[in-house]
Amino acid sequence: MHLLSAGYASALLLIALLSQVTSLEPIIGQYGEMLKIPCNSGAIKAEDIAITKWKYDKGDGVPGYLLVKQKNQNVSISATDEYKVRVSMDKNSSLLISAAKLSDQRTFTCMVVTGGDVFEYPVNVLIHKLPAKLEISGEAEELEIGRLTKLGNCVAKDANPPANITWFKNNKPLEADGKGISIKVSVVVESSTGLSTTTSTLEYSAMKEDTGARFKCRADGLPLESSSMNFTITYSTENIMLEVSPQKELKEGDNLTLKCVADGNPAPTSFNFHLKGELVTVENTDTYTIANVSRDATGEYKCSLTDDTSMEATRNITVTYLDINLSPSGNIVKRAGEALNLSLQIDSSGKAEVSWTKNNAKLGKQPNFTKLGYSDSGRYEWTVTVGHITRTASFDLTVEGPAVVKSLFKNRSNDGQHKVLTCEAEGSPKPAVSWSINGTVLGESPFVNGKITHKIKVVPSANLTVHCTVTNSLGNDSRAINVSSLIEEVRMDKQDQSEDSDQTRLVVGVIVGLLIATLVIGLAYWVYSKKSKQGSWKTGEKECGSSEEEKKLEEKVEENSQKAEV
Ligand SMILES: *[C@@H]1O[C@H](CO)[C@@H](O)[C@H](O)[C@H]1NC(C)=O
Ligand SMILES: *[C@@H]1O[C@H](CO)[C@@H](O)[C@H](O)[C@H]1NC(C)=O
Ligand SMILES: *[C@@H]1O[C@H](CO)[C@@H](O)[C@H](O)[C@H]1NC(C)=O
Ligand SMILES: *[C@@H]1O[C@H](CO)[C@@H](O)[C@H](O)[C@H]1NC(C)=O
Ligand SMILES: *[C@@H]1O[C@H](CO)[C@@H](O)[C@H](O)[C@H]1NC(C)=O
Ligand SMILES: *[C@@H]1O[C@H](CO)[C@@H](O)[C@H](O)[C@H]1NC(C)=O
Ligand SMILES: *[C@@H]1O[C@H](CO)[C@@H](O)[C@H](O)[C@H]1NC(C)=O
Ligand SMILES: *[C@@H]1O[C@H](CO)[C@@H](O)[C@H](O)[C@H]1NC(C)=O
Ligand SMILES: *[C@@H]1O[C@H](CO)[C@@H](O)[C@H](O)[C@H]1NC(C)=O
Ligand SMILES: *[C@@H]1O[C@H](CO)[C@@H](O)[C@H](O)[C@H]1NC(C)=O
Ligand SMILES: *[C@@H]1O[C@H](CO)[C@@H](O)[C@H](O)[C@H]1NC(C)=O
Ligand SMILES: *[C@@H]1O[C@H](CO)[C@@H](O)[C@H](O)[C@H]1NC(C)=O
Repeated sequence: MHLLSAGYASALLLIALLSQVTSLEPIIGQYGEMLKIPCNSGAIKAEDIAITKWKYDKGDGVPGYLLVKQKNQNVSISATDEYKVRVSMDKNSSLLISAAKLSDQRTFTCMVVTGGDVFEYPVNVLIHKLPAKLEISGEAEELEIGRLTKLGNCVAKDANPPANITWFKNNKPLEADGKGISIKVSVVVESSTGLSTTTSTLEYSAMKEDTGARFKCRADGLPLESSSMNFTITYSTENIMLEVSPQKELKEGDNLTLKCVADGNPAPTSFNFHLKGELVTVENTDTYTIANVSRDATGEYKCSLTDDTSMEATRNITVTYLDINLSPSGNIVKRAGEALNLSLQIDSSGKAEVSWTKNNAKLGKQPNFTKLGYSDSGRYEWTVTVGHITRTASFDLTVEGPAVVKSLFKNRSNDGQHKVLTCEAEGSPKPAVSWSINGTVLGESPFVNGKITHKIKVVPSANLTVHCTVTNSLGNDSRAINVSSLIEEVRMDKQDQSEDSDQTRLVVGVIVGLLIATLVIGLAYWVYSKKSKQGSWKTGEKECGSSEEEKKLEEKVEENSQKAEV
């Protein structure tokens, strides 16, 4: 205030002298350095000057004389105060004052006497001093999000005029907004020097984005700035999550890892895990692992902060499991025709998908063995799936039974040169087939579903009864077939070709006999009726006159002849 009013007074004085002399710009001197106050700035030539005299205003209009120089004489110091040792004058009549101080901020007047005129040149002097540096002190260790925190003091020490300080965040100036940014400035004038120390205190409410932001302060208009600084932004946990691994499906036997994920800076380092009610506290980790979980681990799990249990996350965890029991299992041997009772048990955490294969081929439905056949033999596999758990059970079923002959028949080759005998057998283990005659073995079918077919080629030279005998470890069976001589057949009429049993021959014999008898009776009847009236049929036209019995017999003959047509 004092300085200001002094400056104001000087300005008034300056204005007052304006009418008389050329006004001068205020001279700015640097604190502590030699202050040079020019006189009349060369308006009057040095040789014209008779007397140069410097004075200053002591206040209240009382002049203080500093020095005087008369032409061709040495400078004479007139000052008696502190200026006595500080003042001098150079050749251009400039007043020199050593070690400028703030108290030198006043008006110095140069009086010049020429031939007969007296001129006064008042000069207003200002003393400036830059602050040595800008320094941030008392900075915060960390900034807490949302809390107005003193970030630091920016100090501009010993300056004149007092430094104005501006704060910057990432090179953008910060202005007090009454909420998140508050800037308090204090200026302290040191009484001995008059220099001002400006302290600007920034209070700042950090946001998350301020992580890594760089703060600094700068003196307005001066090439001075502080070093920049960054701060750890701290905030308390706002979100907490319980992560469960494996993420997709937790199976019995898996390792269950619980991870408590909480934000905050610094991040929390200890957590509480609530394992279905049981509390476990972990330090310096955020995970907890339960190895080899069992189905009993299904339940509710939580994690929370140890220092703020209201920050809590909850997860319901389900352990999937699957147990199956298939009875019977292993190798099962059953007799054909018996039943096989399957017992299937599933104990699982969820809906099970069930499928069956037999010999690796998919079955449409569960096999039902109420009456086992040979074709039921095979490897059965039961696959049950729940989630990602798949279990299989299997059994090998063998259906066995004694060897039996299912059929035995003969066929004549197209050219009539030989006969093929076919014996079809069933049974398991594989029946061995044997024949009662030696023939050329044509082949044996593969043994499939308990069936086997055996063929031989024979060229019988006589009527034969051929046996097919089948045998396995569980039993044997035999069947016979009559095979007529091929040589005779070739000679025989088609009608008479009978190679069946003696019974057939007997039947034929009976038929022939009956036919003869019929002919004889018919002839007698014809002779008799010819006498009475004209007859209508002739001998040989059998079909017209055959009796019921004859018809039956004829049919039998037909049958037999067809059988013989081999
Ligand atoms: C001026 O001062 C110098 C030494 O500083 C001296 O030699 C000289 O005689 C003086 N002149 C006058 C006129 O006093
Ligand atoms: C004196 O003034 C003139 C012109 O203003 C200047 O050229 C010269 O350097 C000055 N001399 C000194 C010693 O200041
Ligand atoms: C400081 O700010 C004030 C007010 O804005 C201004 O008058 C003064 O000149 C400034 N000082 C500096 C050294 O810039
Ligand atoms: C401050 O910044 C430096 C360099 O960019 C960085 O290495 C340091 O980690 C930061 N410190 C903080 C607390 O952000
Ligand atoms: C469970 O962890 C143990 C060791 O901690 C490891 O040997 C085992 O393989 C893990 N089991 C599974 C299913 O990852
Ligand atoms: C997992 O636990 C079951 C019983 O719960 C046990 O039979 C099995 O051996 C365990 N497996 C391991 C790898 O520890
Ligand atoms: C967990 O299950 C319980 C009971 O079944 C239920 O009350 C709770 O809301 C569930 N919690 C979650 C996070 O699903
Ligand atoms: C099949 O199993 C059921 C139940 O296990 C039983 O009641 C039934 O008697 C069994 N049948 C046979 C033929 O074993
Ligand atoms: C198996 O088949 C029998 C008759 O074919 C039937 O009575 C029975 O219910 C079936 N059993 C199953 C389990 O399908
Ligand atoms: C062989 O004879 C049987 C009946 O005796 C008949 O079913 C089958 O078709 C015949 N096969 C051939 C190749 O003639
Ligand atoms: C079949 O042939 C063998 C020798 O090959 C012979 O010993 C056997 O007596 C013959 N059997 C018949 C029924 O002809
Ligand atoms: C074979 O049987 C037929 C009738 O079936 C008969 O006519 C024939 O005489 C018989 N041959 C021999 C050699 O017994």
